[in-house]
Amino acid sequence: MNTERPIGIFDSGIGGLTVVKAIQAALPFERIVYFGDTARVPYGPKSQITIRKYAADDTAILMRYQPKMIIVACNTVSALALDVVEKSSGNIPVIGVLKSGAILAVQVTKNNRIGVIGTQATVCSNAYACAINELDADIEVISKACPLFVPLAEEGLTSHSATRLIAEHYLTEIRQQHIDTLVLGCTHYPILRQVIEETIGNGISIIDSAEAVAIRARALLSDSGLLNRSQKAFIPHLLVSDLPQKFSVLYQLFMGSEQPDVDLVEV
Ligand code: DGL
Repeated sequence: MNTERPIGIFDSGIGGLTVVKAIQAALPFERIVYFGDTARVPYGPKSQITIRKYAADDTAILMRYQPKMIIVACNTVSALALDVVEKSSGNIPVIGVLKSGAILAVQVTKNNRIGVIGTQATVCSNAYACAINELDADIEVISKACPLFVPLAEEGLTSHSATRLIAEHYLTEIRQQHIDTLVLGCTHYPILRQVIEETIGNGISIIDSAEAVAIRARALLSDSGLLNRSQKAFIPHLLVSDLPQKFSVLYQLFMGSEQPDVDLVEV
């Protein structure tokens, strides 16, 4: 396979840029094509049937760019529709944030009590608990849906008092469960990491599934001889299904850098 082919990454919207950032840091010489389904975000409150349909559409869009690997940046799709992405992408490797986050959390916990926060769909699917217990059946997983974190991150309210209040509301219960590890099981949560860390308290290891998936992607590309041999850094190719202008402001918030051109695609 041509190693210069891009890594395809998709998410329900802009949140997956946290994964783009982590991939750029871990694999600076890879081409990236990113699709954010901004017309249909959020996926988190939707049904499994809808999420699976969207996952097939998103994969088809990325497949036009002949990626050498697909990374499912969306935790909700990773939880409910990873098999749909695998079926729609032929025989290229597909990795999702969920499994990567689960593997890292199992490596990090010392007291075998892991908290997971995510969207309604991710938490209801129990997919994180299943992935963690597949690796270690003795681990207790305590999950909590935090749906309001998504719009708070999208609005850029990273340290606003409203965000602190909502974090307190969501995290109090989980804090009382004596976890030593907390998985940020949603693309948007790394944006609110500081508030989440301060609210959950000291001594709890935070697992950012974006960083976890980047480590796994590098290992997989390297093991299969698919690393790009070029020494040139590439600007990511960005695609969205609605409001490319709004993407610009959020891009700066998520990436901390000027935004490259964004193409509009129809879903
Ligand atoms: N991308 C979603 C996830 O990681 C969060 C936003 C949404 O609900 O679509 O679960």
